[in-house]
Amino acid sequence: MTWQAGWLRNFTNVESSFKILEIGAGNFETSKYLAENYSDKNFFAIDFVFSKHALQTFSNTPRNLTIVKHDARDLSLFQDGYFDMIFSVAVLEHIHELKIHLDEIYRVLRKGGHYVFYESPFWSSSLGHHYLHWKEDCPIPHYGHLYLDKENMENLMKKQNINSNTTRHIMERVYSRDDLSRLSYTKTKKIIESTNFEISKWQTVPDQNYDITYEKRIEENNIYDLNLEDLKIKGIEVILTK
Ligand SMILES: C[S@@+](CC[C@H](N)C(=O)[O-])C[C@H]1O[C@@H](n2cnc3c(N)ncnc32)[C@H](O)[C@@H]1O
Repeated sequence: MTWQAGWLRNFTNVESSFKILEIGAGNFETSKYLAENYSDKNFFAIDFVFSKHALQTFSNTPRNLTIVKHDARDLSLFQDGYFDMIFSVAVLEHIHELKIHLDEIYRVLRKGGHYVFYESPFWSSSLGHHYLHWKEDCPIPHYGHLYLDKENMENLMKKQNINSNTTRHIMERVYSRDDLSRLSYTKTKKIIESTNFEISKWQTVPDQNYDITYEKRIEENNIYDLNLEDLKIKGIEVILTK
């Protein structure tokens, strides 16, 4: 079982849904696992990239799983009210056009249907830069993307003897890549509250790396004018109901 499938089953009642869509399925292993274990349900899974790992997962795909290469900001391939449940894990922090995405999700859910998601790490959290953020030896300091502008980030990389190719890659990932929402916790919450959804469950996940010294550093150079309370929140676990 993938940890994402375990999380979903703990967080919500999968049993009562029969048409289920996963957004941003990555390597597609979670949807494959769920389809294999719930033969009475129909699963759909989309991602706008098919990774090498995903292509491997596609062999022996169960019959009750439909895989589509598609952008989550446009779900026009699905009819109104089609799904009982939609879920995503670590995807929403990549979608800048969050309102457009949520309105599409709302449209394709049936009345009473749920959008269940885990969003992490927020841009406003310690690892929100998304450059090898899961690695212990990541050269970007915690929250560094929030108080270092491009010039200071480049200087810091030089000081750490990071080679120029890696530095270029870091600069692109942190400051230019367009598949990162760069929405803070506060902005994300505001957008979600502006949709037609009812919020049935809202749990915040604390940022374990938070420390007042980081907050002070950001306060001195708050490039993105962040609400400093956002620094304490790594992610959210949410159920939205139509
Ligand atoms: C951090 S990965 C998470 C993958 C998977 N959900 C997991 O838990 O392992 C984010 C995934 O979202 C996908 N993604 C990001 N923006 C997307 C969009 N607008 N439409 C479809 N997929 C998107 C990426 O291609 C990537 O596979």
